[in-house]
Amino acid sequence: MTDRYLDLLQQCLTRELFLDEEVHDVARGEWEDMVGSELRNRMRAEGWRLTRRGGDATKRHDGNDWPPTAETMVGRQRLANVRSCVESALRDGVPGDLIETGVWRGGVTILMRGILAAWGDTDRRVWVADSFKGLPAPDVEAFPADVGHDLSGVTTLAVSADQVRANFARYQLLDDQVGFLEGWFRDTLPTAPIEQLAVLRLDGDLYESTMDALEALYAKVSPAGYVIVDDYGAWEPCRKAVDDYRSTHDITDEIIEVDWTGIYWRKS
Ligand SMILES: C[S@@+](CC[C@H](N)C(=O)[O-])C[C@H]1O[C@@H](n2cnc3c(N)ncnc32)[C@H](O)[C@@H]1O
Repeated sequence: MTDRYLDLLQQCLTRELFLDEEVHDVARGEWEDMVGSELRNRMRAEGWRLTRRGGDATKRHDGNDWPPTAETMVGRQRLANVRSCVESALRDGVPGDLIETGVWRGGVTILMRGILAAWGDTDRRVWVADSFKGLPAPDVEAFPADVGHDLSGVTTLAVSADQVRANFARYQLLDDQVGFLEGWFRDTLPTAPIEQLAVLRLDGDLYESTMDALEALYAKVSPAGYVIVDDYGAWEPCRKAVDDYRSTHDITDEIIEVDWTGIYWRKS
């Protein structure tokens, strides 16, 4: 029953179960040339949206789109990796809590809480760390690697803490085993009331966000605990932060690829 519940939860969180029902906006550029000028002017003036029904199964499998309603954008493979790492840590009795730094709508952390529930674990906590207002503007003086990677104005990435709480509640997984760390990582993570971590998942995209999380939390990851990095393949600044941190701290644990961007390693 545990497996069936978690399989179902994963497919709900990615919306793979409901891909046929998904409604996607068609970008203006895609449709404006297809209609005559009179209709185009009217559609612009009246703020019409054109939508199409149905999501792309390959993109959702690969975590390669920003889904309109799903609670996570990481896709099937990286979500399965979260489950596999958390279940391995539980099976092996690796001590500590679970955290994701950079949660967006909260899907990965909802799955983490669901796994604890399915396994009957009432001791560990799931930490949900985010600004809940999107990415910071790059501080290129302090973090030159972030130059040219400004996503601070992308409103789709700004999801409020109340919305994320509502997403947990939708699955009946909002309780005192879930802790919210609201604010910029540089302010919240160094003083977070976390003693030990069994799984640390980084998904903050930038060099700054990745480095802030590693500096505040890596030392708290238990031996045999997992470190997962969502953006290692896709985002050069993130990869550089991970490589810099590993080399400064002589970390040689083998990096294992999850898919085209995700990686993880098990702390020795
Ligand atoms: C790509 S999204 C995370 C996707 C998410 N893990 C999922 O499952 O879909 C990146 C998130 O990181 C957050 N973020 C990035 N840098 C941050 C920082 N320095 N402090 C706080 N939040 C940050 C953003 O607000 C955003 O929610």
